[in-house]
Amino acid sequence: MEKVYIFDTTLRDGEQSPGASLNIKEKLQIAKQLAKLKVDIIEAGFPVSSKGNAEAVNLIAKEVKGPIICGLARATKKDIDIAYNALKPAKKYCIHVFLATSKIHMKYKLRKAKDEILKSAVKAVKYANKYSDIVEFSPEDASRTDPDFLVKVVSEVINAGADVINIPDTVGYTVPDEFGSLICKLKQEVPNISKAIISVHCHNDLGLGVANSLAALVNGARQVECTINGIGERAGNAALEEIVMSILTRKDFFNFKTDIKTSQLYKTSKLVSKLTGIKVQPNKAIIGENAFSHESGIHQDGVLKERTTYEIMDPKTVGFEESKLVLGKLSGRHAFKEKLQKMGFDLNKEELDKAFRRFKNLADKKRYIFDEDLISIIEEEIIQISKTWVLDYIHTSSGNNTIPTATVRLKKQGKILQDAASGDGPVDACYKTIDRITGTKCELLSYDLNAVTGGKDALGEVTAKIKSGKMVVTGKGTSTDIIEASAKAYLDAINRLRYRKVNKIHL
Ligand code: KIV
Ligand code: ZN
Repeated sequence: MEKVYIFDTTLRDGEQSPGASLNIKEKLQIAKQLAKLKVDIIEAGFPVSSKGNAEAVNLIAKEVKGPIICGLARATKKDIDIAYNALKPAKKYCIHVFLATSKIHMKYKLRKAKDEILKSAVKAVKYANKYSDIVEFSPEDASRTDPDFLVKVVSEVINAGADVINIPDTVGYTVPDEFGSLICKLKQEVPNISKAIISVHCHNDLGLGVANSLAALVNGARQVECTINGIGERAGNAALEEIVMSILTRKDFFNFKTDIKTSQLYKTSKLVSKLTGIKVQPNKAIIGENAFSHESGIHQDGVLKERTTYEIMDPKTVGFEESKLVLGKLSGRHAFKEKLQKMGFDLNKEELDKAFRRFKNLADKKRYIFDEDLISIIEEEIIQISKTWVLDYIHTSSGNNTIPTATVRLKKQGKILQDAASGDGPVDACYKTIDRITGTKCELLSYDLNAVTGGKDALGEVTAKIKSGKMVVTGKGTSTDIIEASAKAYLDAINRLRYRKVNKIHL
């Protein structure tokens, strides 16, 4: 199998996404993760664009080991000098020179004729070649360039020393057959093409970035420029994870390989999304939250019988833990039972029928059913949680000049236990006292107080979420007295926690 080089431009074209802006430390963090992912080339930035950009490229060149570090430059001496200065600490680096060659760009943007463009391109590549072992040249807007002129430009820049010829579909205009044919034409008509690697850089304006890149590979390209999560100018670039997983999943068709460590894909996607602030759509291929989730009963049943019925990739290959069976109104009994078993509930047929009926009722009202909803169903329908600890008496004192204290009396199987403690407020004092009496060691994750009725004598409902080891439980308590409601909610959570520990129910 021939190798396809993965050129990641998340930190350059990806950073050009509207709204994305990364500081130098964040760029370094992403670059280090890209090295773990084993991309071949990291385009770290466009050094002339700002002092900060040059510093980030320089830092990545110093610190990131493994991939070739690349910097972008227009076809000018100044850009190339600045790119070189930023890149030179890297063990292996590449200067990426670009110049537009399409009629529209030459006429309106550059205001230059074809022969001037050709001269500038050749001059710039020769200049960059003095500094760098690897020079890449991109005829910007190549897919809208006169194909015969493109052949001429490519052939001349290769003579000038370009090692990589990148063919960008700058505005995401081309379609797979057309782009494949363009690459084929270059392979056939550029006399010195064997001296360079053909790369492609496809934007996603028509949603065809990945399809166009794959068509180019089939026709002779051997490098793909892409970004994590497909971020980039406007609609973005071809998504790295989609290219890599297409090549891997359909190796029978493509007969290519990459060096990407696919198990790092999900982690890399999460990091890029977190640091750029650009969310990943749930149905995004490969790394979207729903990419390996099955909701319909027929699909869930199929996956449980044999994963490959509805999955073409093993989620673990891309770093997901496992496929998710999302319980919702379309889910069937098989998935429901399997989920409960995983959570530690082994129900008999009658219990399962009862719980499933309640689940279907709830699923009609609620879009997503979380593990906590299932626990509540089981606890309420099947197991009546025994109330080990019952609140018997509570007294708290607090004020602006008083240390908040609580005295609490609890009942446990007829036995009375009492204690007192101080805290940061009356609720805290009360929870500390309950911890002392029950011997509980837990962390209060959240505390919510809501009025469930109106007026001055409103009934307050407290929800307390606690964590002990890996177990997270939620307790509820109501009273017209909010301290009493708080104590009841906390005790409810402690009783549930105890029940789960005794019965070895894991969440
Ligand atoms: O889209 C484009 O043409 C580019 C070039 C600089 C390669 O990003
Ligand atoms: Zn681009």
